[in-house]
Amino acid sequence: MSAQRVLIIEHNFRERIEITRFFEDLGYKVDAVQDGSSAESIINIKNSDDTDKNILLVIADIDAPAFNALKFLKQVKDVKPLTEVIFISEHPLVEEAVTLMKHGAFDFIIKPVTFEQIELYLKKLSVKKRAGQQNEGIKNSHTAPLIEIITSDKGMQRVLNMAKRVADSTASVLIQGESGTGKELFARFIHHNSKRSSMPFVALNCAALPENLLESELFGHEKGAFTGAITRKEGKFELANNGTLFLDEITEMQYHLQAKLLRVLQEKTVDRVGGREPVPVNVRIIASTNRDMKESIRNGEFREDLYHRLNTIPLTIPPLRQRQGDLRLLCDHFIKHYSIIDARDVKGMTPEAYQILSSQKFTGNVRELQNMIHRAVLLAEGEFIEPQDLLMEDFADVDIDDVDIDEDTSDPIKDNSYSKSLDEIAYSANAMTDAMRNEHPLRDFNINIESGSLRDIEERVIYNTLDRTEGNRTHAAKLLGISVRTLRNKLNEYKEKR
Ligand SMILES: Nc1ncnc2c1ncn2[C@@H]1O[C@H](COP(=O)(O)OP(=O)(O)OP(=O)(O)O)[C@@H](O)[C@H]1O
Ligand SMILES: [Mg+2]
Repeated sequence: MSAQRVLIIEHNFRERIEITRFFEDLGYKVDAVQDGSSAESIINIKNSDDTDKNILLVIADIDAPAFNALKFLKQVKDVKPLTEVIFISEHPLVEEAVTLMKHGAFDFIIKPVTFEQIELYLKKLSVKKRAGQQNEGIKNSHTAPLIEIITSDKGMQRVLNMAKRVADSTASVLIQGESGTGKELFARFIHHNSKRSSMPFVALNCAALPENLLESELFGHEKGAFTGAITRKEGKFELANNGTLFLDEITEMQYHLQAKLLRVLQEKTVDRVGGREPVPVNVRIIASTNRDMKESIRNGEFREDLYHRLNTIPLTIPPLRQRQGDLRLLCDHFIKHYSIIDARDVKGMTPEAYQILSSQKFTGNVRELQNMIHRAVLLAEGEFIEPQDLLMEDFADVDIDDVDIDEDTSDPIKDNSYSKSLDEIAYSANAMTDAMRNEHPLRDFNINIESGSLRDIEERVIYNTLDRTEGNRTHAAKLLGISVRTLRNKLNEYKEKR
């Protein structure tokens, strides 16, 4: 059975990647493009019996370049009548939104788009499709999304088996693990393997909101309950009714609110802020934290009674550095994955690149590895990822004379700003590992005005880098952000000067 397809048209690099990842985590196949013309070429593949080419949903940023939203929508309705389109925009025009809705857009939303919003759309879509199937007997490709947890590690397999065994119960689950280890992935896995899988999975990050807002997000509020409560609002508990509520970063919830949460869990009813009647709810709770719960309890930050209530099934995901065997597996998985998604022909990684990869600390765990491999797949020139592709710099053939050496040489991002869009730089900066920072040629390198001409400084930076790479020119060139040819020319120049 093939997974369903989604097309994303988003010019903002970071948002494109985040939405893509969100859908992939749910098991969808994703085509992500940044402009209208690429989107058109995907949509214009005729619908066929090969359901793989049919697209369930398009999410389109109407501000993408070369993108005419109305023309595109008409094309979709013409070529792929079963495909739904949701438009998004940062600065929407009312008339445009109205026109698009009239022409059959599924919805029009203002940025920022939350993943919960998208999940609710997916639910609506699957209900609509099911109704369509019953009414018209249409055969479509709806299959339950796959959630893939890749591991060969014994410890992880124990956690995974436990998750499988308890998925089908109503027991609360507490998932602990460092950032990026896969806590949310496990939460979704449990939900999708439970009897509740056709009901909503609603996630709420408890660290993201101040106490009063978090309370009304969780439990909802009545109209007029406080200033700004202009309409009645259902809380996450009600939205997740009969489904699963994922309370992410639960240790960040304020102490006072923890007591209210405990009451809801015990009584299975919620009191909306300003509400009179308790509302009955049937919700399975999965909570997660990357902090040491026991310590939070000792420090008086987390209620012990709530901890015991949540901790019916404790799952602890080991950090990536404790499961070396998974590194290769995840690495190959992400290479394959991003090669398909970004239409690259990358087949693997050279042994040298893998050696560098395995020496990384991966404090950001699987997420950090995933970002690094995604970037490497995009940077790789051949079929195999080379060591330099694992670094953020890829400035082949840029002459060092063109590099602006800023006074703030401690910032390794600044001197590359010419080669990438701002979004990409921000993304790379986030994904840069400690190892990369430590290797940067300007690390520990003090430049003062007395230290000579720019050319002298350049020469010192180059020799210093060569020292650091023990004479390896390819590696040094990559660290310096220049091509090996430029490095060779520079070295010849310095030799001639003597
Ligand atoms: N074992 C795995 N197999 C495949 N993908 C994984 C695995 N573990 C994590 N990932 C991927 O790594 C990314 C991070 O995972 P996730 O968001 O679940 O981590 P997290 O523990 O919730 O992180 P944070 O604490 O930062 O919120 C996701 O894209 C997820 O799909
Ligand atoms: Mg998370």
